[in-house]
Amino acid sequence: MNILLAGGAGYIGSHTCVELINAGHSAVIADDFSNSCPEVLKRLEELTNTKIPFYNIDVADNEKLDKVFKENKIDAVIHFAGFKAVGESCEKPLMYYRNNLDTTFALLEVMKKNNVTKLVFSSSATVYGIPESVPLREGMKTGCTNPYGRTKLMIEEILTDVSAADESLSVVLLRYFNPIGAHKSGRIGENPNGIPNNLMPYITQVAVGKLPSLGVFGDDYNTPDGTGVRDYIHVVDLAKGHIKAIEYAEKHTGTEIVNLGTGIGYSVLDIVKAFEQANGLKIPYVIKARRPGDIAECYADPAKARNLLGWQAEKDLQDMCRDSWNWQSNNKNGYE
Ligand code: UD1
Repeated sequence: MNILLAGGAGYIGSHTCVELINAGHSAVIADDFSNSCPEVLKRLEELTNTKIPFYNIDVADNEKLDKVFKENKIDAVIHFAGFKAVGESCEKPLMYYRNNLDTTFALLEVMKKNNVTKLVFSSSATVYGIPESVPLREGMKTGCTNPYGRTKLMIEEILTDVSAADESLSVVLLRYFNPIGAHKSGRIGENPNGIPNNLMPYITQVAVGKLPSLGVFGDDYNTPDGTGVRDYIHVVDLAKGHIKAIEYAEKHTGTEIVNLGTGIGYSVLDIVKAFEQANGLKIPYVIKARRPGDIAECYADPAKARNLLGWQAEKDLQDMCRDSWNWQSNNKNGYE
């Protein structure tokens, strides 16, 4: 299939592009570099040895988006085009609602106009809100604690309604847990703007000497060592989950919600120790207050992904720690 990757120059989109091409599909990327940069495209072409059609457009621009569909035969879309920083979404909620919803509306309208019926959406485990229990299954209660999370849940609901009204549509909503790691080449990886919010990029920036020490947000949670527990998943495993999802969408209609996680929860201190061991480095850390909005534990029940898509994560925490460091140590300033 020829897949449009909306927001395909970002962290998850770029890794998905490589895996799509490895699996024998082809990709077209549309991205406005609002949270990525042109160097990514060069590296994707180098890694895949393929010329990848690219459009520097705002995906919310219907006319420009329509041109992409007119100039390429698009079989399916993977929608990564959205803002994703929790803190920023609390400061600028309108910007998040406008951007994340408008890109979705434009994609749906232009897909309809061009008779494209298959869509995979980048959702997040954030839509489970404050979990009543773990592991999290797809049928469990949803809820949100910030505008970013609310855009993800709203989009899930919009896509479910739109697909219910049009039986030719096929939609897979992928709820990501905590993607970390990088392509094993070290040529593509996560490239946060400014000081990272997320744990692994923070650790790698401490390791590379850009930040003095890690702040561990709380050691008094009801978890084995008191620090927060999450389901970290290697970004290449996550990327492969998209290939399975798009291949599923090719053969089925309707909407499916699928967790992409490993089912294993690790604490913040587990991650610090694993990173130190995998890379022979020391990560200085200090215990700080809890971060507002954080939850104690969040990890997936990954059974549905296995049963429905035939997908499961293959890489372990050591792979994740090694590949994150390989990327960061070879690209001290990311893609700059
Ligand atoms: C965060 C977002 C989530 C989003 C996801 C995207 C919040 C509250 N949640 O998830 O909505 O979908 O990123 O990747 O921002 N930690 C530290 N020190 C740090 C950074 C993190 O101790 O400097 C801890 C956190 O308290 C948490 C764990 O590390 O226990 C993971 O944090 P993070 O990587 O930010 O991911 P989430 O909070 O799970």
